[in-house]
Amino acid sequence: MRLKDTNKLAQGYVASIPFDRRLYRQDIEGSIAHARMLAKQGIIAKSEAETIIKGLNSIRKKIERGKFQFKTELEDIHMNIEAGLFEKIGDVAGKLHTARSRNDQIALDLRLFVKEEILKTIDKIKALQTSLVELAEANKAVIMPGYTHLQQAQPVLLAHHLLAYFEMFQRDKERFHDCLKRTDVLPLGSGALAGVPYPLDREFVARELGFSKVSTNSLDAVSDRDFVIEYEAAAAIVMMHLSRLAEELILWSSSEFGFIEIGEAFTTGSSIMPQKKNPDVAELARGKTGRVYGNLMGILTTMKSLPLAYNRDMQEDKEGLFDTVDTLHSSLEVFAGMVKTIRVNTERISQAMKTDYILATDLADYLVKKGMPFREAHGVVAKLSKYAMSKGKSFRELGRKEYRKFSPLFSNDVYKITAESSVAARNVVGGTSPQQVGKALRRAKRLIKK
Ligand code: ARG
Repeated sequence: MRLKDTNKLAQGYVASIPFDRRLYRQDIEGSIAHARMLAKQGIIAKSEAETIIKGLNSIRKKIERGKFQFKTELEDIHMNIEAGLFEKIGDVAGKLHTARSRNDQIALDLRLFVKEEILKTIDKIKALQTSLVELAEANKAVIMPGYTHLQQAQPVLLAHHLLAYFEMFQRDKERFHDCLKRTDVLPLGSGALAGVPYPLDREFVARELGFSKVSTNSLDAVSDRDFVIEYEAAAAIVMMHLSRLAEELILWSSSEFGFIEIGEAFTTGSSIMPQKKNPDVAELARGKTGRVYGNLMGILTTMKSLPLAYNRDMQEDKEGLFDTVDTLHSSLEVFAGMVKTIRVNTERISQAMKTDYILATDLADYLVKKGMPFREAHGVVAKLSKYAMSKGKSFRELGRKEYRKFSPLFSNDVYKITAESSVAARNVVGGTSPQQVGKALRRAKRLIKK
């Protein structure tokens, strides 16, 4: 329905053109494929299709040159382009909408859009993974404290820690690949809801537009927005991962940690405190995660309890999706750039492990190798640690006699336990030994190339 008679307030309220104009290219591509198919099936004349296609192409150019006048009273991108087509080629424009509804048209536009964006998203995740792998590679030998409960737990290779994020982003890519499978379905040909009374060749349209399947239920095809929800859910998970990385970079670049320095291009100064180098980029990524979660909750709530088939509520799918795509993409891009500028301060990192209590598990494992049951060894080292702390000594500063007080199994080779021996010992698949991490790095590089 045109909104000529609708009051201005309502007109602005129901219009989607301020945001769905972003779909102009998909809308035109879809219309061109539809017109071709209508002609091929003898539903409209070949010459009519040619006129329509020419007209659509010139509208595309006009939009791209910024010369096309979008009108709010024409509601949405579909009506705006159709009106433009009438202006350009006259009444034959009216044949384009044969065997089509805006309901299957918007479902098509959105699927084309999400398909394209998924590929971009995957590329951007890859670029970030590449930066992480480069940083890991450049600091291959650096041993840092690993934490649980944010308390020093066991030494790990910094590269191992960074590759943990590589794994998260690898799963994220898989989620998008999976989402792509369900997005890659042509809804056009479903009409308003019931299918159309024309002999369409939907497979032809699918091939023209690069879809690998056509939808099998017209009611579902016009009311399904699962692919939008899946994209936004996958995006929310990426942002969650990014926000964890952000948090660690913020923590590590604090003066208390001082493990890393983020390049100046990605930090900002304070307007009052001259010494500051604030990790704003990382903080904003952490912050924007909230908006991306919000968009997911928004679309889930919009779709909840909607009866079949199309309802205007569904127009609310777009702004959140666009915002999520833009936020995710800019966050990934800025992170890929920022990670490249990170300088690792190995001095500060080894300083942090100076007291060497982080080797307590290794002392227990040492006793186990000499025959003591692990639980008992755990108890012995707990007492030993308490003692060392009370004396203000690190493990390596304890004398042989002091060790002997806690167990006769301790001998000289206990001094061979170091952060290096600790990581080297964890040579199990997935462990932090240099050998395993070397393998993991090679695997990561292979996966990026794929
Ligand atoms: N602007 C609408 C949307 O985004 C397009 C579909 C409109 N269909 C309708 N019957 N009003 O959902």
